[in-house]
Amino acid sequence: MTAPDAIAEPAGADLPASDRPRSATRAILGASGALLAAGLGLSVASAPEHAAAIALGAGVAAAAAAAGGLLGVLLATRPIRGLTRAVQAMPGGRAPASGDDDVAELGRALNRLATEHDRSSDQLRTERDLLAGILEGMGEGVLVLDTDERIVLVNRALRAFARLDEDPRGKPLLEAIRNAALKEALDGVGSGADPIVREIELGRPLPRKLLVRVARLSHGGELRGTIAVFHDVTDLRRLETIRTDFVANVSHELRTPVTAISTATETLLGGALDDPDEAVEFVGVIDRHSKRLRQLVDDLLDLAKLEAKSFRLVLGELDVRPILTHAVELLGEPARRRRMTLVIAPGGAEILRARVDRRALEQVLMNLLDNAIKYAGEGARVTLSARAAAERVEISVADDGVGISPAHLGRVFERFYRVDNGRSRELGGTGLGLSIVKHLVELMGGTVEVESEPGKGARFTVRLQAAAGPAGPSPAPPSTP
Ligand SMILES: Nc1ncnc2c1ncn2[C@@H]1O[C@H](COP(=O)(O)OP(=O)(O)OP(=O)(O)O)[C@@H](O)[C@H]1O
Ligand SMILES: [Mg+2]
Repeated sequence: MTAPDAIAEPAGADLPASDRPRSATRAILGASGALLAAGLGLSVASAPEHAAAIALGAGVAAAAAAAGGLLGVLLATRPIRGLTRAVQAMPGGRAPASGDDDVAELGRALNRLATEHDRSSDQLRTERDLLAGILEGMGEGVLVLDTDERIVLVNRALRAFARLDEDPRGKPLLEAIRNAALKEALDGVGSGADPIVREIELGRPLPRKLLVRVARLSHGGELRGTIAVFHDVTDLRRLETIRTDFVANVSHELRTPVTAISTATETLLGGALDDPDEAVEFVGVIDRHSKRLRQLVDDLLDLAKLEAKSFRLVLGELDVRPILTHAVELLGEPARRRRMTLVIAPGGAEILRARVDRRALEQVLMNLLDNAIKYAGEGARVTLSARAAAERVEISVADDGVGISPAHLGRVFERFYRVDNGRSRELGGTGLGLSIVKHLVELMGGTVEVESEPGKGARFTVRLQAAAGPAGPSPAPPSTP
């Protein structure tokens, strides 16, 4: 029979989506066929004995028609439900979209929408990640507060400046970053349209100096909160201080010899020239101080060139022992005058070849030996030694004099730094020698360090790059003046 077949026919679940509306239509037609069959039964079985059977047949036909109708509706709405489920699964899922009916067309439109949505979401995600990456990678600190003054964003740089370990988002500012100057700057921008710029100090135990620029954050004319950008100016301020100190130090160092020279000259012109003894004395003063002036100017020029990296070195692989011997020879006389012993420690027989600039190494040794002779104290013993140490050649200048106390030890390589200002100046020192030594050694790729025990002496050790070639026997034994 047509009708039961039509009813029993599967509802099209396993059919392609495009066929589903048509299979639903077929189901409705099938149900009508059953109704027609019931009508036919009525005309054929018109005899009274068949009345009950007719009534039963009509009932069955009506029920079948009703069931068929309901099923038809269900089948007809099935593609819509499929679409609904697909839309609910969006943006990941996709709607059935093959065929040429309206439902398929709607499916395709939804899919286009979903694809467009995916693209926009990807773009937004990329932009958001990029922005987050930029904020996290910035050297400047960034702080964003909402209109309730709660923290919305603190980037990595600011977390480091403020030493924040916990996530401060959502907290009131002062709970996360206790800094009255910052709070004041943030409050100050409140109603004004212009950004505020302040310098604050943030972080412990060593606070950073930060230039903070605070501005209102608005979008579409609506106030969204406050943004503060922090620029670390610690190094800049330190350099400014160094520069001002430097100018003050140079002026001070220049003033002493210049004053001495001009006073001596005035005295000579005022009549001392006529007295031979006085004349000799004051000319001696002029001579001493002009030499000091010259030394100071030479040192300053050297330092300026070294710091500007324009000091040209001629690096070669040289045996350092003859350079040590030469330095000791040059300073033998001043050492003797102070009744000091200046020796080169007996070394091995091998040639100690290092990668050095001869003039630079000579200047380094002269400065270190000159210091030992000036500051170790009368009668002290100064020993110059050299040895091979791994990939390095190690040269030491050690004395058994007064030494340097721990408070000063870390600072002696700073320019103009003197342990005892009065005493060093009296000895003609300006505090530039060791800073020149450090620059020269580093320029040759080496290091210099100092160890000292007050009362027991000081040892300066210079480590230089050993030459790449093999060491050979020394042509001359180390000498002691
Ligand atoms: N061997 C040493 N023993 C004790 N103190 C030393 C020794 N060497 C250096 N110092 C201290 O370190 C300070 C810095 O030395 P540096 O050579 O830089 O300056 P200076 O000798 O005072 O001046 P300059 O070398 O420019 O003439 C000295 O003033 C001195 O106080
Ligand atoms: Mg010196």
